[in-house]
Amino acid sequence: MQLTWNSTCRAGMLALACAGLVFCLAPAALTAGAQSFSGRWAAAGRTLHNGEQDKSILELKQDGDKLTGTMTSLGFTTTVKGTVSGTHFELFGSWNDTKPFVKGELMNGELHGSVFGNHAWIAKPATPADELPKLPYIQPPPLQPVPYNGLAKTPPMGWNSWNLFADRVDDATVRTMADAMVSSGMRDAGYIYVNIDDTWEGVRDANGVLGTNSKFPDMKALSDYVHSKGLKIGIYSSPGPRTCGSYPASYGHEEQDAKLFAGWGIDYLKYDWCSAATIYKDSDLQPVYQKMGAALQATGRPIVYSLCEYGRGSVEKWGPQVGGNLWRTTDDIRDEWTSMIDNIEKQVPTAPYAGPGHWNDPDMLEVGNGHMSDDEYRTHMSLWALTAAPLLAGNDVRKMSDTTASILMNKEVIAIDQDSLGKQASPVKNGNFETWVKPLADGSVAVGVVNLASSSAQASIKASDLHLKGIKSARNIWTHSDVKFVGDTYSATVPSHGILLLKVSGK
Ligand code: GLA
Repeated sequence: MQLTWNSTCRAGMLALACAGLVFCLAPAALTAGAQSFSGRWAAAGRTLHNGEQDKSILELKQDGDKLTGTMTSLGFTTTVKGTVSGTHFELFGSWNDTKPFVKGELMNGELHGSVFGNHAWIAKPATPADELPKLPYIQPPPLQPVPYNGLAKTPPMGWNSWNLFADRVDDATVRTMADAMVSSGMRDAGYIYVNIDDTWEGVRDANGVLGTNSKFPDMKALSDYVHSKGLKIGIYSSPGPRTCGSYPASYGHEEQDAKLFAGWGIDYLKYDWCSAATIYKDSDLQPVYQKMGAALQATGRPIVYSLCEYGRGSVEKWGPQVGGNLWRTTDDIRDEWTSMIDNIEKQVPTAPYAGPGHWNDPDMLEVGNGHMSDDEYRTHMSLWALTAAPLLAGNDVRKMSDTTASILMNKEVIAIDQDSLGKQASPVKNGNFETWVKPLADGSVAVGVVNLASSSAQASIKASDLHLKGIKSARNIWTHSDVKFVGDTYSATVPSHGILLLKVSGK
């Protein structure tokens, strides 16, 4: 027996097929007076910056005051759950089960609500006409290594719009941020790339050329402006039909988009899996990423290639073969201590695979975004440096505090991150302390001891644990002062969630 939509039934009805017979059923949501949330709903949400409307199909099942189901859009399919109280409902996405993404009322057989209290959201009983188009699987190319592009010999450094601005990034923000990268000293400290994340996209024209939306009137002019500041510019797309923000992406247009980006003067592409999961399997990850890697190289323009697929399919093992210079190893970072620590710890198994030209990426920096303490931000910056992570600031560089500036532009920490040996530190846990040791090109080591506890504590670093033959010198990277080991040991008080970070040279 099958439950499907069927054209023999009236619009909005479910067809129950059994032994060649079709029975037409009205979904519970259409049953007069039933006031049930169960059924298939066509939802229309916000209008995107390119004028398109965000549409999705919800398949809900009500069990008392509980809702479960799925939500599918062109961009993704996700599970949803929710609560019902009378006609009131709240729906939670799988990405956050504490904050409902939509709240509203069941009225006259329709769900009327708002997304995060911001924009109207209406779901009506779905009809066959509402079904989202089924896009075909496009056979990815056979595996063939993409040669190294010679870029990112040290972890890329720059700024990215997503963590703070999300879909509010626009041309003026990027220009003023580029100005601030220069005036604040960020550029001279090494932060070279100014990267536009998702939501710049417009629609494709009749020739398949992807345009920008009204927030970015002239991408070439913007790129010229960023270059005129002695900076480089990055952009974002997805191998699927839609980006994570539901904007058109590079599926079926990989070569065309690579040429478009090169023509604009783009120097860095973040390529985010997102809706590719609705077309391809994880076993296609490598050839799908290779397709864009090869397309970028074919343009002849040096473009840093950043893979963003959250560590799926052991990307660290094949990232370089598809032309990747860096790859995300985790889900998205949030501006919270637990998220930051989780991300850095999750990528520990990838450590052997980091090195010049190809880096593990635990996601962008949250330093200065306001939801961690200064000690936590110093730990965040130190851990990214110890693990040779890309340093992509995600704050408002135009108005950062002196403390934020001193964290992001601590030259001694940056030097640890940018060390030419390119080793990624791994931690050793001892109670509430976590010690990360990174060998450096000049034979010295960087060592960081993180205090995971909720109160300050005395931490010790032992020379014998650093595999150095005696200590010649030791320097505290956050106090910018030389320190002395007593015998084999150096001890200091470390605040809760803070770090003791030293550079130690052997005799
Ligand atoms: C995903 C990525 C983020 C960001 C958003 C944009 O969630 O992991 O870093 O690029 O998409 O939609």
